[in-house]
Amino acid sequence: MRPVRLAPSILSADFSRLGEQVEEALDAGVEVIHVDVMDGHFVPNITIGPLIVAAVRPIARRYGATIDVHLMIEQPERYLADFARAGADILTVHVETCPHLHRTVEAIRGVGARPGVTLNPATPLVALEEILPYVDLVLIMSINPGFGGQSYIPTSTDKIRRLRAMLDAIGSAAELEVDGGIKPDNAAEVAAAGASLLVAGSAIFGGPRSVAENIAVFRAALGN
Ligand code: DX5
Ligand code: ZN
Repeated sequence: MRPVRLAPSILSADFSRLGEQVEEALDAGVEVIHVDVMDGHFVPNITIGPLIVAAVRPIARRYGATIDVHLMIEQPERYLADFARAGADILTVHVETCPHLHRTVEAIRGVGARPGVTLNPATPLVALEEILPYVDLVLIMSINPGFGGQSYIPTSTDKIRRLRAMLDAIGSAAELEVDGGIKPDNAAEVAAAGASLLVAGSAIFGGPRSVAENIAVFRAALGN
């Protein structure tokens, strides 16, 4: 089994030093950069758009890293091509924003990106059942999306376990990503439940330690 990987969320980065901080994470061996896109409609916060993805792109490419874009926006299909052109390798949409989810997933492949789907903490896994065979990534939100620095919702662990069983039952090799409130002290529990990719924002870009030190603390907690 591959060791669980970290996906630092740049939402908590210092945007005046974004390139430097992304590079520090990549230098520390990170292979995935998570980008949180919020529109002020689906979620209360407004964050970033394709311009920032395009700015991160040359740095990520230099390291062969994946740009993982989490779209917390209404009508995401309107922006898929823009984000793909900017450099998104993975485009993840919320089931709550996609009445024609299968069509949206096909549209993501159509723009040359890998499709991911995600759901809010109160949305049941059954909402994903029919789409699982078509996606490359499933993201469990372990907080209500909108802001970094919130606390992990404890019932997420059981949801991760149940999703792992659903993926295994259909022989899916999709990535199982978890996002929200991931810290060194719960990372091992989340990994043991079946996650393959852990998003961490404030625990990597916040606090007094350097990005590299924060990543090292995660690695120690995960035993990798
Ligand atoms: C929130 C975002 C998360 C966020 C996680 O809606 O989807 O990716 O950056 O931040 P932390 O790790 O601080 O909970
Ligand atoms: Zn996210």
